[in-house]
Amino acid sequence: MAREISALQEARKAYCPKLPKALAEGKFKLELGAPSEPKQDREAIKKLFPSTYGQPVVNFTEGCGEGLTGDPINVAVILSGGQAPGGHNVIAGVYDGIKKANPKSRVYGFLKGPGGAINNKYMELTDDYVDLYRNTGGFDMIMSGRDKIETPEQLKSCDANFKALGLSTVIIIGGDDSNTNAAVLAEYLKANGSSTKVIGVPKTIDGDMKNEEIEASFGFDTACKTYSELIGNIERDASSAVKYWHFIKLMGRAASHVALECALETQPNICLISEEVKAKKTTLSEIVNSIVDVIVKRAEAGKNYGVILIPEGLPEFIADIKTTIDEISDILGKDADKLAAMDADAKNAYVTGKLSEHSAEVFGSLPAADRAVLMTRDSHGNVPLSQVETEKLLISLVSDRIKALKAEGKAQSVKFKALGHFMGYEGRCAAPSNYDADYCYSLGYTAAQMARAGLTGYTVKVANTEQPADKWIAGAVPVTKMLNMEQRKGKPTPVIKKALVELDGAPFKYFAARRDKWAVEDCYVYPGAIQYFGPAEVCDLTTKTLALEKER
Ligand code: FBP
Repeated sequence: MAREISALQEARKAYCPKLPKALAEGKFKLELGAPSEPKQDREAIKKLFPSTYGQPVVNFTEGCGEGLTGDPINVAVILSGGQAPGGHNVIAGVYDGIKKANPKSRVYGFLKGPGGAINNKYMELTDDYVDLYRNTGGFDMIMSGRDKIETPEQLKSCDANFKALGLSTVIIIGGDDSNTNAAVLAEYLKANGSSTKVIGVPKTIDGDMKNEEIEASFGFDTACKTYSELIGNIERDASSAVKYWHFIKLMGRAASHVALECALETQPNICLISEEVKAKKTTLSEIVNSIVDVIVKRAEAGKNYGVILIPEGLPEFIADIKTTIDEISDILGKDADKLAAMDADAKNAYVTGKLSEHSAEVFGSLPAADRAVLMTRDSHGNVPLSQVETEKLLISLVSDRIKALKAEGKAQSVKFKALGHFMGYEGRCAAPSNYDADYCYSLGYTAAQMARAGLTGYTVKVANTEQPADKWIAGAVPVTKMLNMEQRKGKPTPVIKKALVELDGAPFKYFAARRDKWAVEDCYVYPGAIQYFGPAEVCDLTTKTLALEKER
């Protein structure tokens, strides 16, 4: 029996995602720019990527198709890392781009992320199967995973599995770490004489895989619109009930783009920006005091309610917590074997004993659950910060501070009742907005053309997306151009530089110029639910972040 689907899903099946003009009309050629170089650490990166370093940026411009094969080819896709709305449309774009050029070509999906490539778990994609997932959210079509292809055995096993399937290209759909991993795999395969190429697609709701070539990572648009709808609803509830402060933590492992975009869309009373906290070296107690100041001011104006947005990455941007995390990373990297044999308590004691005095104090002051999270790393060396309950920590510290003020006879008008929320997983699989549906399909279609061109070690890009799709331009940027060297698990490692919120960038400046007013007055904006049908000025809006960045 066919699986029941919602009315919206049924209607969205008919949506035809837009493509850049050159790709839509099928008349395009591949244009190669000058050899590229990373901004920094050139020698180290050249040494690590001798076969793929220095490749030119690629653009697909109007023309007549030279440089692209029409022969049947076999291609595989991998969904890597956290879910992001639009992933299925990337696959649909790859599928259509490959099949249109030659219906005899085959498209496979490795299952459950890069682990599927290592363990040779895959399925062949068919018309019917792809049609089930067009314009839907989620990564359930072939599932995702956070494995990293890094050991010599894993690289060798991928090489053998790709050969067995006769793959000319593997397309890795992932964030900065996964695209870095794509470059490592591309280099390995090329250096070892394999004919399989590797292309990456920029994904992550965090919005931090962007640079002068890549203007947005897919999924950011839909996720922020989903959270903003809910934040707007909470703002309306806050000003209706007039008795709660809502502390809302927003997903985004490092950068505060999600929190900032949601603030621009909903105009809350407070939005913390981790990058500003870092730049000003703000301590945790200063953050608490600044929140309390606003709470007191609003209480004096008779408003014992409000909304505060907190970026997930905040702990890593507070100087003393960051130092503690870095010290822990070093210990976990250096003493991995010893620690592997220990239970949680022994690990806690061992790590505490190795920390500097101040870091041990900071670490010891955190709740046990948060300490356990800070001692965990994923396969890319990241702390799983989505599991740190920063919103609850801040509620408790703010509440203590208010109690202390009251004991001194101050803040008498404050009645502080707070509720904590975490918005993260709710937004990662939402049905893609028109922007993400179009952008993702275009990225996938572009990846298909890169596969036909037989290029390797690239991340695809689509530019000018603040304009109507017929002005979009497809292309690709060499991954090595985006790399820099960073300490990971205690070792210098090549990684794509994460784009953090720029304090001199237009989105932050717009926010900073208005936040004092938003703090005391009720300037809430209620964006409502994502609209899929209707006028373009409601349905095809980009994020405010992109609009402000492009205004510049
Ligand atoms: P990606 O960088 O892989 O896109 O993942 C982003 C993210 O959604 C972060 O915002 C969050 O910290 C993390 O994934 C949560 O990871 P997990 O899905 O493993 O819980």
